[in-house]
Order: sequence, then C-alpha cells, then structure tokens
Amino acid sequence: MCRAAFLLAVLVLIRPVVEALDNGLALKPTMGWLHWERFMCNLDCDTDPNNCISERLYMQMADVMVKEGWKDAGYVYVCIDDCWPSHQRDAQGRLQADPKRFPGGIKKLADYVHSKGLKLGIYADVGKNTCAGYPGSLGYYETDAQTFADWDVDLLKFDGCFMDWTLLGEGYVNMSKALNKTGKSILYSCEWPLYEWPFNQPNYTAIRETCNHWRNFADVYDSWSSIKSILDWTAAHQDVIVPSAGPGGWNDPDMLVIGNFGLSHDQQESQMALWTIMAAPLLMSNDLRDICPRSKELLQNRHIIAISQDPLGKQGYRTAKVDSFEVWERLLSNNRMAVAVLNRQEIGGARGFFISVFPSWKMCDPQCNVTQILPQYKEMGVQTLHNKVKVSVNPSGTTLLTITPIRSGLKRPHKLHWQDTIIKHKHATVL
Ligand SMILES: *[C@@H]1O[C@H](CO)[C@@H](O)[C@H](O)[C@H]1NC(C)=O
Ligand SMILES: *[C@@H]1O[C@H](CO)[C@@H](O)[C@H](O)[C@H]1NC(C)=O
Ligand SMILES: *[C@@H]1O[C@H](CO)[C@@H](O)[C@H](O)[C@H]1NC(C)=O
Ligand SMILES: *[C@@H]1O[C@H](CO)[C@@H](O)[C@H](O)[C@H]1NC(C)=O
Repeated sequence: MCRAAFLLAVLVLIRPVVEALDNGLALKPTMGWLHWERFMCNLDCDTDPNNCISERLYMQMADVMVKEGWKDAGYVYVCIDDCWPSHQRDAQGRLQADPKRFPGGIKKLADYVHSKGLKLGIYADVGKNTCAGYPGSLGYYETDAQTFADWDVDLLKFDGCFMDWTLLGEGYVNMSKALNKTGKSILYSCEWPLYEWPFNQPNYTAIRETCNHWRNFADVYDSWSSIKSILDWTAAHQDVIVPSAGPGGWNDPDMLVIGNFGLSHDQQESQMALWTIMAAPLLMSNDLRDICPRSKELLQNRHIIAISQDPLGKQGYRTAKVDSFEVWERLLSNNRMAVAVLNRQEIGGARGFFISVFPSWKMCDPQCNVTQILPQYKEMGVQTLHNKVKVSVNPSGTTLLTITPIRSGLKRPHKLHWQDTIIKHKHATVL
C-alpha cells in the first residue's frame, strides 16, 4: 500500500463514524457512581435511613468519593436514579424532589456535590411515567430541561418506560434539543436503543447525534449470569453498535456491580476488564461506605482506568471464541492494543492460553512489549513474533494485557489490526 493510501486509511479509521452530540461532554467514557442496582427504589427512610433514596445517601457517597480516592481515580459523577421526585409536579408544572427525603431540594444537593469537586446526575423518563411510576417528562421536555439546568445538574439519565415506541426517537431528540436550549452542557444518557430493539433496529447514527451514551440491553443484576448475558448480547450485535462509539458518545452496557454480593473476585475482574475493553461508562453501583479492599483496589486500578480513558476512544470487541475462551481486543492510541482473555469454562481450575497464536500478535513483528494488568500487574517483557507466550486464566476470570509494538527504524508503516479493516469498511458505508 502506498503511503498516501495508508494515511487515508488511518484518517478514515480515526475519524468517528458520525458526528457526536456536540455539547463538549463525554469525550472519554463517563466515570462515577449511580444508585440504581444497589439501592433501587428503597423509600424506607424510617427504618433504613442510611440506604433509602434521600439526599443523605448522595451526600455520604460524595464525602466518601473524595476521602477514599475515588475522585482522584476519576470517578466524578454522583448520580441519582429513579424514585427521587414527588408524585406531583408543582404549581408551575415543574418536577420537585420528594420533600421528606430531599428536604434541601436538588439545587442544594448539587451545590454540596460541587463543593466537593464532583458532579451531580439526575434521572427522568421520556414517557408518561418513570419506570417506578413517578411523573414522566412527556409533554414537559423544555420545562424539565430548564429545571435541571436551574438546579445546576450535570447529567441526565433519561429512561424509556411508558412511551409509545414509535415516538421514542422524537422524544429523545426533543429532550436533547431542550437540554441544548438551556445553554448549560448537561451530559445526556439515553435508553433509546434498549426500548427500540424489541420492535426495530435502532438508528445509531441518529442516536450518536442525540446522546452522550445509550443503553442497548437489559438492566445489570448482581450476578455472573447477568454479566454474561450483557457480554453475549454485545458480541452478537458488535457489528451494529461498535462503530457508533467514540469521543462524545458511547455504548452503555450498564453499571459496574463490583463490590456487591453476587460476583466472585475473578468475576469482578472480568467485569472490570471487559467494561474497559468495551469503552463503557464506568458507573459503579455499590456502597462505597462499605466496600472490600480488593474490590476497591480493582475499581481504582490506574492501569485499567488508563485503558478505559484512552484518548483514541475506540470501543473494543470480541475477536475470537476458542476452546471456551473468549478474546476481546481494543485498539489504543499509538497502535497499542489491550487484550482480554476470558475463560468461560466454569469447571476445573486455571487454564493456559497461548496469546501468541492470536491474529493481533502480528504487531509483535519485529518486537512488542507485553504487560499483564490483571489478575496481577506483571511486565512480561519484549517479545517477538515467534515467541510462545502463555497466560493462565481462572474459571470465569479474565487476563488483561496491553501490547505495545516496538518498531525498528519505521521502514514501513505498522499494519493495523485485521479487525479494524473490517470496521473501517463498515465506517465507509455510513460515511
Ligand atoms: C448546542 O448545540 C450547538 C450545535 O450543535 C453546539 O455548538 C452548542 O455547543 C450546544 N450547546 C450546549 C449547551 O450543549
Ligand atoms: C417533538 O417536537 C416536535 C416539534 O416541536 C413535535 O411536533 C413533536 O410532537 C415532539 N414529539 C414528542 C414525542 O414530544
Ligand atoms: C438515521 O439517522 C440519520 C441522522 O439523523 C439520517 O440521516 C438517516 O437517514 C437515518 N437512517 C435511516 C435508515 O432512517
Ligand atoms: C515495557 O513496558 C513496561 C510497562 O509500561 C515498561 O516499564 C518497560 O520499560 C517497557 N519496556 C520496553 C523495552 O519498552
């Protein structure tokens, strides 16, 4: 390939498929905390005051996020999910927080969160009601957008319950415009494709123009079977969804449930590794006031977070399934690669896997530098194309590596990963 053609290929590759929503936000996958999976719709402030959905929960979480290194690691959004509002709008038709559980109101809570150097997220719904039956925003998009802007909220999670699916797109687009019209940049997290998939293949070009991230698939639960179902769905639809991800807009496979009850430590490492490969928003749903040190260390692992936040902003995907292993890869800046090897055999002990039989190992010609990130950090040193390199992976665990090509003199351009050629053609058809 001549140099000009190569440069063109690179330009096509690094250019996002379609324009992202232009609000200056989510240039890297969002990081923070979201209450839903762990705290759900707990309204029992009388007997369970520390865990009910109240201003106290978010203030305590914000305090811990600053004190325990979460903010420094990059987790800055503190996000409210469903069940925060009063069942009635106020006399002007505006949403209002439940007065008993949020006596100070949302503006005061936002001020508190901002005083800690963090950001506040809120929740609403594109339809007539929220999923838990609180007032929805249908017919009130401009009012609600302005209310959230007046409260100085930084992120809106916009759910899709109680909405005629044929109006979903219109509703999500109208709210996006309403948010823009407030003049305040508010990160816009959608569930448009999740609610459209049962009827129709969603238009990801339109979704990327409208939202900063978007849920595609069912809610995450605190279980390995839930994590597996999300990975399987994502791999089965990767041709459709991966090209739409990039700076400004991301596929959202839902919350990290690391630090809760349902996943073994190996499975927690798998969720962290695979969510990072998927360039997913890292929104934890756990109790940061009471989390085991190993889970905390995993969530704050700076090597993993560096992969998540890689400036190239390309989503990775499953590149192979072999012998009950899955290999997932993500292209990083400077032609580096992150590789996750997931052992899906849930019987027996650790099994060995030769990463050097793998297509992307071609980048080790003439040499590459391999670093294992999970399960332990380990520099595996300089390797060549013909070295046999084996990793060991526990049942339902993942080994995460980075591979950095080392070039001698740059005589010819480094050949990009074969799978990216496929993605490039996909881009070309929608460009
Ligand atoms: C509103 O949209 C315009 C055009 O896309 C963009 O330039 C501007 O930054 C947006 N403003 C906000 C607050 O998102
Ligand atoms: C979206 O906005 C358009 C233009 O104002 C309006 O005609 C349409 O009814 C709105 N759709 C929804 C679902 O709000
Ligand atoms: C998808 O949305 C884009 C942008 O809004 C639009 O230009 C395109 O025509 C839509 N594609 C289909 C198949 O509806
Ligand atoms: C390989 O990568 C590790 C980790 O980033 C680094 O410490 C080491 O210096 C690198 N070695 C070479 C030869 O580039």
